[in-house]
Amino acid sequence: MTSHLDSNQSPEESGLRKGLTSYGDQGFSLFLRKAFIKGAGFTDAALDRPVIGIANTGSSYNPCHGNVPQLIEAVKRGVMLAGGLPMDFPTISIHESFAAPTSMYLRNLMSMDTEEMIRAQPMDAIVMIGGCDKTVPAQLMGAASAGIPAIQLITGSMLTGSHRGERVGACTDCRRYWGKFRAGEIDADEAAAVNNQLVASVGTCSVMGTASTMACVAEALGMTVPGGASPPAVTADRIRIAEETGARAVQMAHDHLTIDKILTPAAFENAMRVLLAIGGSTNGIVHLAAIAGRVGLEIDMQALDRMGRETPVLLDLKPSGQHYMEDFHKAGGMATLLRELKPLLRLEAMTVTGRTLGEEIELAGPGFAQEVVRSIDKPIYPHGAIAVLLGNLAPGGAIIKQSAADAKLMEHEGRAVVFENMEDMVNRIDRDDLDVSASDILVLKNIGPKGAPGMPEAGYIPIPLKLARAGVKDIVRISDGRMSGTAFGTIVLHVTPEAAVGGPLAQVRNGDRIRLSVRKREISLLISEEELAARTLNNVMIEPTADRGYLKLFLQSVTQADKGVDFDFLRAPKITGKTPES
Ligand code: FES
Repeated sequence: MTSHLDSNQSPEESGLRKGLTSYGDQGFSLFLRKAFIKGAGFTDAALDRPVIGIANTGSSYNPCHGNVPQLIEAVKRGVMLAGGLPMDFPTISIHESFAAPTSMYLRNLMSMDTEEMIRAQPMDAIVMIGGCDKTVPAQLMGAASAGIPAIQLITGSMLTGSHRGERVGACTDCRRYWGKFRAGEIDADEAAAVNNQLVASVGTCSVMGTASTMACVAEALGMTVPGGASPPAVTADRIRIAEETGARAVQMAHDHLTIDKILTPAAFENAMRVLLAIGGSTNGIVHLAAIAGRVGLEIDMQALDRMGRETPVLLDLKPSGQHYMEDFHKAGGMATLLRELKPLLRLEAMTVTGRTLGEEIELAGPGFAQEVVRSIDKPIYPHGAIAVLLGNLAPGGAIIKQSAADAKLMEHEGRAVVFENMEDMVNRIDRDDLDVSASDILVLKNIGPKGAPGMPEAGYIPIPLKLARAGVKDIVRISDGRMSGTAFGTIVLHVTPEAAVGGPLAQVRNGDRIRLSVRKREISLLISEEELAARTLNNVMIEPTADRGYLKLFLQSVTQADKGVDFDFLRAPKITGKTPES
């Protein structure tokens, strides 16, 4: 039994002996546990092995995880080849389109499920299988709090489809075709035809949406095996990564390579660098803030903005560029990107392999000719994807994905057209009598962490129908919500504090002037300080509450976007530093 242990562990703390159920008699607890598991046909020899938990997030409701059964089989093979005992168990699974009111509302619940099942069940290391947007951050948050050796396995991206000769993939093209349908450019028959092609296989969205972003971020954090981010879901490469992940988990258990040794300030800095360079989803910032908060770190948003000024977007993927995830994989995946970013990375950061990121980049070997990852002197966009804005409208900050915005609108002053909440927006946005022009700024309140609740991806406010029909493709939009990483436009998001807790956004009125200057990193409501103070005094917000259940817990505990929209009681008890370190 002791063969797989390192000097830091005692036999009582490992394998099946971990976390015994409380019956007041430890010997009996182990006796009973073994008796039950032997009911499933296990031998003592098997039960003497290091136990590797596998978080199974397969679900009929989650086609992005449709390959999980094959992945589990391959992880198990890897675990057993390395001398461990694999034990898969179910956790919550969340799919973007099957979670009401929004997947973000459930992310923290999934992180609690993941953390508590890791704590409750005996395992020496955990393999977490995640893919769809909120699942990877939820798992990393939960594992960071649980503290044991942990490794992330990504389900992988879907394949692209073809519609009338045009390559299509979820979900940038979903939005583009829906926009065409709204504008009357395609009819209902064509909309139905393209609907069959947008998602050509199981797997996660094929563009640089939140799922692909978090896959790349997880690899940059050092939490996947090298090359773990990019293989599509249905490829042999993905299955091989799964086998390798299982084997690696056994070695991590042996070496007691706990997650705190990997999720260091250097790792977060690398993740932020990669997020900027891939044209990553704005959601990546929220999730990174939440994961960092679990290990006692805060994301320094101003430092992120400074990093953005020196980190160009190199990855030519939709929505910032042209290609899809399967092209990125063929171009060498993260190794190609990391090689190019090497001068900007913290190479000493530890990874799940027990080697540093710098060592892994060396081991990946030389690059080759390809067209998906640009060189640093020939970027797809000269700065990082995301800019951080400040001003009297967002004293706690706001962000804009500048790489997916219209350059002509990034310095813009306009008249506010205000929607008080989502319902108001849905009721009025398409009305012919809506007083709106292309130079106005659409403002949507009350879609923040508490307001909606759950900070839904409704910040991608549709172009009002009468403007869409007139050919308007973009308009400045501002909200306290989020938007999908697959979306594009001049869209200011995550306005903090949100309207529902009395942030200045709550005080914006129809006809007010607003100034957006991405160059100056400014988002301002052009009224006097006195006027803003008077409005705040006369318009006190009553924060939303609930009587029972998860919603009550959520509304009582959820933090703002700058703290990752995590629950306050799940963050580390003490914040010990900022990342990146100054
Ligand atoms: Fe699952 Fe896009 S819907 S990754």
